Amino acid sequence: MAASAYTTSAKVLIFGAAGQVGHALSELLDQAPGIEPVALSRRQADITDAAVVQQQLQKHLPDYVVNCAAYNRVDAAERQQEQAYAINRDGAEQLAKACAGLSIPLLHLSSDYVFDGHYASGYSEEDEASPLGVFGSSKWQGEEVIRAIQPQHLILRVSWIFSTRGENYLLRTLEQARHEALIDAADDRRGCPTSADDVARVVLAILRQLTCGIDVWGTYHYCGAEITTRYGFSEALIAAARQYEALKVEQLNAVASANLSILAQRPASSVLKCRKLLDTFGIRQRPWRSELQRTIREFYGEH
Ligand SMILES: NC(=O)c1ccc[n+]([C@@H]2O[C@H](COP(=O)([O-])OP(=O)(O)OC[C@H]3O[C@@H](n4cnc5c(N)ncnc54)[C@H](OP(=O)(O)O)[C@@H]3O)[C@@H](O)[C@H]2O)c1
Repeated sequence: MAASAYTTSAKVLIFGAAGQVGHALSELLDQAPGIEPVALSRRQADITDAAVVQQQLQKHLPDYVVNCAAYNRVDAAERQQEQAYAINRDGAEQLAKACAGLSIPLLHLSSDYVFDGHYASGYSEEDEASPLGVFGSSKWQGEEVIRAIQPQHLILRVSWIFSTRGENYLLRTLEQARHEALIDAADDRRGCPTSADDVARVVLAILRQLTCGIDVWGTYHYCGAEITTRYGFSEALIAAARQYEALKVEQLNAVASANLSILAQRPASSVLKCRKLLDTFGIRQRPWRSELQRTIREFYGEH
């Protein structure tokens, strides 16, 4: 067997490992030389339970903790405020406290929804957060507690995650396209779709450089390359799926968000500028269109 280029091993404890990003990351790290992942689903470790978090960290003594656990139901959060804050803010706090106590760096995922969406040109890490709804507010407060408690943190804000698992816009739209002739999609909300596998790739690249001992704590942005709308993304994914299946959908209607029956207000433009990640880690944005083709291929391979 060829000798590995990575002589030291970094143990990485992943919380929320059964979610879109958590699963993709666990699979990627499993194959990564020099990385030893320990993947914990919600059933195995609830991040809102301080004793459980503490126990897991002491049991595994990882070099890094990655938090992929979150409450992500944007509309439901308006009615389930307590649950959203308990997971996105208080859960983040438990992880930050436990990590700080054991001097373990914490990598945490956050969201484009911390912004209000008024900057059409996109948001940098220095722009002021101003969340519109409960979900965005709970993610922002989660970031703030981590900054206050654990200086060795890296917060990675991502946007519009898609994959073949869990609840996401791609799977919802695909389901509609298979069973409905007319579909509405918002053409007044701009952003950048990002595949869960791509986020996992970025987290691995960051971990690789952290293991070299560089001091780059702080907040970063990452999203797939090319700005689109929900309508543009729906159009692309329906075209990709049509290569595999005759879908029922005949018409995709471009509509204003105000005409969709959704409870939570969403940012009109939540494009993340990713320059800081490139300048610091040399990580480039991958086009979401190629990731979409791969994801659709995977979807039809599995079904
Ligand atoms: N999805 C998006 O479009 C999007 C956009 C921007 C940012 N993000 C952020 O990116 C990160 C990853 O998102 P994702 O799409 O991979 O999320 P996801 O698919 O919803 O996965 C989240 C995981 O966290 C688990 N979880 C919930 N509460 C927990 C708790 N108390 N303790 C432990 N685990 C818990 C969930 O388990 P159950 O399923 O059993 O509840 C689920 O497996 C999150 O921080 C999210 O806020 C996501």
